[in-house]
Amino acid sequence: MTTNKKLLQWVDEMAALCKPDKVYWCDGSQEEYDRIAAELVENGTFQRLNDELRPNSYICMSDPSDVARVEDRTFICSEKEEDAGPTNHWMAPAEMKKILTAEGTGLFDGCMKGRTMYVIPYSMGPLGSNIAHIGVELTDSGYVVCNMRIMTRMGQKVLDQLGDGDFVPCLHSVGKPLAPGEKDVPWPCNSTKYIVHFPEERSIMSYGSGYGGNALLGKKCFALRIASVMARDGGWLAEHMLIVGITNPKGEKKYIAAAFPSACGKTNLAMLTPSLPGWRVETVGDDIAWMKFGADGRLYAVNPEYGFFGVAPGTSMKTNENALLSARANSIFTNVALTPEGDVWWEGMTDEKPAHLTDWKNRPWTPDSPEPSSHPNSRFTAPAGQCPVIDPAWEDPKGVPISAILFGGRRAKEVPLVAQAFDWTHGTFLGSSVSSETTAAATGAVGQIRRDPFAMLPFCGYNMGDYFNHWIQTGKKADASKLPGIFYVNWFRKDENGKFIWPGYGDNIRVLEWIFNRLDGADNAVKTPKGYLPKPGAINTEGLDISPERMNSLFDLNKETGIAEMEDIRKYYDKFNGTVPKELYDMLDTIEEMYEKL
Ligand code: GTP
Ligand code: SPV
Ligand code: MN
Repeated sequence: MTTNKKLLQWVDEMAALCKPDKVYWCDGSQEEYDRIAAELVENGTFQRLNDELRPNSYICMSDPSDVARVEDRTFICSEKEEDAGPTNHWMAPAEMKKILTAEGTGLFDGCMKGRTMYVIPYSMGPLGSNIAHIGVELTDSGYVVCNMRIMTRMGQKVLDQLGDGDFVPCLHSVGKPLAPGEKDVPWPCNSTKYIVHFPEERSIMSYGSGYGGNALLGKKCFALRIASVMARDGGWLAEHMLIVGITNPKGEKKYIAAAFPSACGKTNLAMLTPSLPGWRVETVGDDIAWMKFGADGRLYAVNPEYGFFGVAPGTSMKTNENALLSARANSIFTNVALTPEGDVWWEGMTDEKPAHLTDWKNRPWTPDSPEPSSHPNSRFTAPAGQCPVIDPAWEDPKGVPISAILFGGRRAKEVPLVAQAFDWTHGTFLGSSVSSETTAAATGAVGQIRRDPFAMLPFCGYNMGDYFNHWIQTGKKADASKLPGIFYVNWFRKDENGKFIWPGYGDNIRVLEWIFNRLDGADNAVKTPKGYLPKPGAINTEGLDISPERMNSLFDLNKETGIAEMEDIRKYYDKFNGTVPKELYDMLDTIEEMYEKL
């Protein structure tokens, strides 16, 4: 237990507000997990999978209305509206607190009636590391407790570490109180949803959803939105990035971090199986990186998480065997299909579709069914330690030294397969201008191109213009010779028939090889307005069925569209009311001049 006064007092206050039947402090033990999972089975929330096929694992179908992050219901409640910036939804903290906590009318008042309030102490980052931070989530969802135990280090050991120290209070409710005797539904939630952050207070309140980033508050809410504010104030970086170690055939190793928008390939790159002989890839993290400068002046990254909450569809033994193997046991599968044998299946898992399934809406399914068997944002929750290629240093409290940072997105045209930034400022420019097709990771239309700077559009806890400036200032303070190289990649270019031009997945090692060699000073690039592009033939295509012309089509340069893009970025910058740093406007001018000379 704990003697932490702030914690005890807050739990008492929140219990008085939410009025649960009981308060339960999670110890984080296996026994506790098994017991809560069994209760979820009892309630129809979980189904236990066949233990011979998928030991100690569960499948869960959510309410069909609660399947992804709700960006339009996500709020940054800073005191001043300009501190949230034009890309975030804002409401004054007092006004929001009235909606959420006012006696009688507040959404949280009485919201846990008939339920248990679980207290989940958790650490983002290795316990005791000076990079780690502690949060405590209060939730009325057993599903959240089980997922948090996989995704974070949680339980009594965190309270022991916390002592009298500070933590980020995270209040969560599915928003479905039970009347006396009322039978629960398998997936309680509420059509009213609020995912709320108070950056000055460093606290979180989430109401109405039980799904993923809306409900597992250590992930996007704390480790990105609140942590980005902490990082700005503390001179570090909290980013939507995977972290991966890459070893070349000579045995030389470099760590790379990469920011791609949601469902754009982080998990895949983090654990890819290289198609080139002699290369090795090891995973540190697949979604979030916290990065600080070490005493040696280099940038070090830790993965604050303890598990993967990965996109299921498209994950197969061919595309990402390490993800599949990470989820071979002790995992939770949400919104995928159930096989008659009691295992899971989703679109793309095998070439041949199973003859019969139960789909994610609990209906019988056959290959002739009109809808896919699994929701496009269905996910597996798997312990990171089970990844066959987990990096030996993944829990090192010092973190791993980062040699390169990649930005990327899902773009059918214009954006090259790979480009290297001229320097940190140009890299910041590239990061600020990332655009990508929207995906099923958030509710709303899929496939629409939008700017998603640094893949942080839904996750930056403050004004994005100030965030750009934080990146510029971070570069200025550092020793330039020790800063990571910055690159931009795009695996998703399509030909005139709508087919992906680049094979992707394990073949992405070919792009990583070029990056690796660039970091070692290889003379294999040409300077263009898009950055340094690989010289023709510089990317190893041996063994690939791709013509030099098709390769060239991944690197097209066009004066008119290039200039139009710069004008579009300028208009975008102008939306931030003067907070975008001058360095980025200057870079825009420089690149525009380069295009003029084409
Ligand atoms: P979040 O967890 O939402 O932040 O996403 P993520 O960036 O980790 O995305 P993930 O790696 O799970 O990829 C999402 C989708 O992109 C999956 O359907 C993958 O199959 C697909 N994908 C990943 N890498 C590639 C690639 O190199 N080429 C192609 N064509 N598709 C890819
Ligand atoms: C994302 O959407 O970027 C995710 C999934 O990683 S969730 O945790 O639901 O936000
Ligand atoms: Mn993510």
